[in-house]
Amino acid sequence: MVRETRLTRDDFVLPLFVCPGSGVRREISSMPGVFNLSIDETTKEVAAAYDAGVRSIILFGLPESKDELASGAYAEDGIVQRAIRAIRQSSPDVLIMADTCLCEYTSHGHCGVVRGHEVLNDESLDLLARTAVSQAAAGADLVGPSAMMDGQVGAIREALDESGFENVAIMSYAVKYASGLYGPFREAAQSAPEFGDRRAYQMDPPNVREAMREAELDAAEGADILMVKPATIYLDVLRMVRERFDLPTAAYHVSGEYALIKAAAQKGWIDEQRVMLETLTSIKRAGADIILTYYAREAIRALEQIK
Ligand code: PBG
Ligand code: ZN
Repeated sequence: MVRETRLTRDDFVLPLFVCPGSGVRREISSMPGVFNLSIDETTKEVAAAYDAGVRSIILFGLPESKDELASGAYAEDGIVQRAIRAIRQSSPDVLIMADTCLCEYTSHGHCGVVRGHEVLNDESLDLLARTAVSQAAAGADLVGPSAMMDGQVGAIREALDESGFENVAIMSYAVKYASGLYGPFREAAQSAPEFGDRRAYQMDPPNVREAMREAELDAAEGADILMVKPATIYLDVLRMVRERFDLPTAAYHVSGEYALIKAAAQKGWIDEQRVMLETLTSIKRAGADIILTYYAREAIRALEQIK
């Protein structure tokens, strides 16, 4: 009765990695329990997750081939676009989010267009906007720009509106730190940068006032939801975003945060279920309305057991 913070199934978004082929279900070595799934396997996974209580998913794509301009990101028959159409058919009620970035589709693995060894902010906006429009056209309910290019939310909002997708929402990865905790994701999405790193466009971990400026710009450009990422080692930032902005707040419990718990649990050093629920509770207590986590299904199962 007096418990102040309660997790419910509606809090969670399950990330999925869609790959080419059929019948493919390939486990990510650094993320036990997470898979690269072909479209047919993805639809099965979504149906099973929905039955288990998961109400929203976010899709990442591994394209057939990559190039300098990330053409697989905005192709009408791109891997994510096809997956969205298939899921819409097989699980009509699930909320479908699409991650909007270029790094899974560029040959160099950066989140924007590259010239020499430099990522070009403004030249990337048009491609990000095209990606969002193609995801909306395929049936995405919400797009999640994660490239950290300045002006991306405004460019995407404008392009969506011009194309008749006024009702497609934007969840901005507004405060995304250049974190060591994305390592397992880069294995899952095969998106490690070929040279350099992402520090020119992602945020410096010691900075928090800068995080507020990033969030403010995205809110002004039309973001519907503001995200902080990673979650647990940035709970102070999450709390500040919650208090300063009246938009719904999301937090991404990222691949490395998942892997840390999994690894310790596999060694028998911690009680996985207990630490998982304690961790997700801390994220909600700090102010998250929405939690993206690879633990979505297991968390919902655990919550049901407790009842
Ligand atoms: C793509 C993207 C990344 C993540 C979400 N979207 C990787 C990155 O920025 O390198 C990380 C998610 C995770 O680690 O679980 N820009
Ligand atoms: Zn990216």
